[in-house]
Amino acid sequence: MEESFKTLLLPYQQRIDRELHEFAPLPKLAALRDPIAYFFTLPGKHIRPLLTLITAEHFCNDYKEAVPAAVAIEVLHDFTLVHDDIMDDDHLRRGYQTVHTKWDIGTALLSGDAMIAMAYHKLLTAPSPHLMTMLEAFTDGMFVVCEGQARDKEFETRDGVSLNDYLPMIFQKTARLFVLAFELGYLSCSSDPRVLGALQEIGEHIGLAFQVRDDLLDFVADKKTLGKDAGSDWRRKKKTYITIGYQHKIKTNPQLPPNLFALKEFSAAKEAVIQAGVLDEAQHFIQERLEKADAIAASINFSHPVLHHLLKFLAERSY
Ligand code: IPE
Ligand code: IPE
Ligand code: MG
Ligand code: MG
Ligand code: MG
Repeated sequence: MEESFKTLLLPYQQRIDRELHEFAPLPKLAALRDPIAYFFTLPGKHIRPLLTLITAEHFCNDYKEAVPAAVAIEVLHDFTLVHDDIMDDDHLRRGYQTVHTKWDIGTALLSGDAMIAMAYHKLLTAPSPHLMTMLEAFTDGMFVVCEGQARDKEFETRDGVSLNDYLPMIFQKTARLFVLAFELGYLSCSSDPRVLGALQEIGEHIGLAFQVRDDLLDFVADKKTLGKDAGSDWRRKKKTYITIGYQHKIKTNPQLPPNLFALKEFSAAKEAVIQAGVLDEAQHFIQERLEKADAIAASINFSHPVLHHLLKFLAERSY
């Protein structure tokens, strides 16, 4: 990340960090409080709350009134991660042990459950005239993520999953929360359906690009930078932009190993997807979606220095 962007982000990141470090009320019982406090202080990127804050800053002139909603969406996201790591059997998150690894599955389930309640607790303090609409969006967002996660799991054991199956799945499991981030920021003060609709579209494009970049990083990122175990999707036979793209490539390229998931080593799978050219295609998809988001933002005069830098970061990120 460029130094100038880091400086620009500092006030927002410090505010979100402080809110999470000082989150109240935490559960009284240490057995539940400790894993939650642990997770809140891991070095996440805080992209969703950042989007909420800059949207509010632009449309409401100040981000302060959007702080409860920003914290709420980060805590909701944290819930999805704690449960996702159980479902994906992952042991590393943000460079540290996942909750079910450090504690146990029961503790991780309960921590995630409590996070949902804590997220609502925070959202209910939002001083917005549109709080009911925010609550509806929040509830819908959470419901949609669960459906997306269910599909993602189902695809692990299903052959022939196409991009037409995959794109709605990643809209649900990932992009819906990006849509929510913009919704919450804008609803902190306004509710013009035309602007809201445009912001929802921006969230969708960014969210889809975000998940495809995440899929790509599972193949190429190094564990230390990513803070997650590389090759996790491949090991679980996940249907990602990369593995689905690969299936198409083998039809026209007999040089490629026919079954990516049957390879013995992750390094061989990585070599195969590079050789197939799937990573370039994924990057093309990412750029295209981010450009669309940029164009829609311009159409509603949504210009914010952070948004500009963020779109660039999301295209290139390595963690
Ligand atoms: C990870 O999200 C889950 C996905 C949707 C791919 P992030 O990459 O935003 O996770 P943190 O919060 O920065 O750890
Ligand atoms: C992210 O999917 C979706 C949610 C957490 C809801 P992944 O399973 O790809 O996320 P990572 O790679 O574990 O962060
Ligand atoms: Mg998952
Ligand atoms: Mg996962
Ligand atoms: Mg992933």
